[in-house]
Amino acid sequence: MITTPLPESAAVSRLGRESAFEVLARARELEAQGHHVVHLEIGEPDFNTPEHIKRAAIAAIEGNESHYTPSAGIADLRDTVAAYAAKLRGMAPFAREEVVITPGAKPLIWNTLSALLDPGDEMVYADPAYPAYASCASYLGANAIAVPLLERTGFRLDLDELAARISPRTKLLVINSPHNPTGGVLTREDLETIAELAIRNDVLVIADEIYCRNLYDGDFVSIASLPEMRERTIIVDGFSKAYAMTGWRLGYGIMPAHIARNVTLFNNNTFSCVATFVQHAGIEALEGPDEPVKQMVEEFRVRRDAIVAGLNSIPGVTCQTPAGAFYVFPNVSRFTTDDKALATYLLDDAHVAGLAGSSFGAAGRGYLRFSYAASLEHIATALDRLRTALPRFKG
Ligand SMILES: Cc1ncc(COP(=O)(O)O)c(C=O)c1O
Repeated sequence: MITTPLPESAAVSRLGRESAFEVLARARELEAQGHHVVHLEIGEPDFNTPEHIKRAAIAAIEGNESHYTPSAGIADLRDTVAAYAAKLRGMAPFAREEVVITPGAKPLIWNTLSALLDPGDEMVYADPAYPAYASCASYLGANAIAVPLLERTGFRLDLDELAARISPRTKLLVINSPHNPTGGVLTREDLETIAELAIRNDVLVIADEIYCRNLYDGDFVSIASLPEMRERTIIVDGFSKAYAMTGWRLGYGIMPAHIARNVTLFNNNTFSCVATFVQHAGIEALEGPDEPVKQMVEEFRVRRDAIVAGLNSIPGVTCQTPAGAFYVFPNVSRFTTDDKALATYLLDDAHVAGLAGSSFGAAGRGYLRFSYAASLEHIATALDRLRTALPRFKG
């Protein structure tokens, strides 16, 4: 019998976490006690998956598409992604060998970083950021070097700071546009500067473009479409956010074929392959009617405008209008610098679930992240509660 706790690996202590799942668990506890909680914490569309996609999955199950597949995904889905993703970005079609299918974008990030980073390598990324990048890099013994995003420029990267942080040990730049948690979008000029830095310093770029369909104005620009960038960019994308398919777990990466082979080896060693009928539903998502995606974006726009106006009308709160994704990142530093204590208070006392800005990195301190993937009615309730609760916070 084991009487003392088994030792954990040193690497596990370097793992970060996505606090949205923890806040969701606490919110559910409050609901179980009978409280009405407004959920603005989790980053998922509140819409149902479009009907035609559900029907494709059901047909695939009935057609017994329920066996293992190759670790990079079924050929039909890889080909569909290769054509769709290139068209969306105004690029010549990708090859099947450049596409890797994963159970959501998150395992793709993990497996790609595992395939690229050695201990001591440097990965430069934006702060605040989706927590998976730094968590995985640290786990691998690489150094995650943060570059702050600037509120005054709509949460775009500080490009001078980015240039200053690149060193001979830098192997990777990670960018994410539209951005979680701020909703910021990099301009074509930003991307051109980043591309120039990547080429001059001979580093690869991971472009997390999972919110590329959640853009409110203009056309999406991918860094992969800029001259000489196709061969040094790894595109991260997936179905969760555009098609309201978070729980299906389906994502993909597009990258040079030699990197794709190594990422596939990690797929092979971890989850083997993505659920077969889910991959068939993915083909229908990309090839079927696109109208549901556009309708969701229009609905998000109405909600964005409502929550931004509401937050800015609360004395002491300032909130930028995000250009993409479905998050707002209000500045609440007038109330406190301890945004974690504030987020906990708002959940426990006002029953509004949101995330502390600093749970996305040190530069998020003094901010909150709210997901506006909630009905207008819920957004209005949250705003009423915030208006009353914020001035009462003793931080
Ligand atoms: C920036 C970003 N990348 C990747 C993901 C992972 O998405 P999924 O694993 O659901 O496809 C998320 C999810 O919130 C995200 O915000």
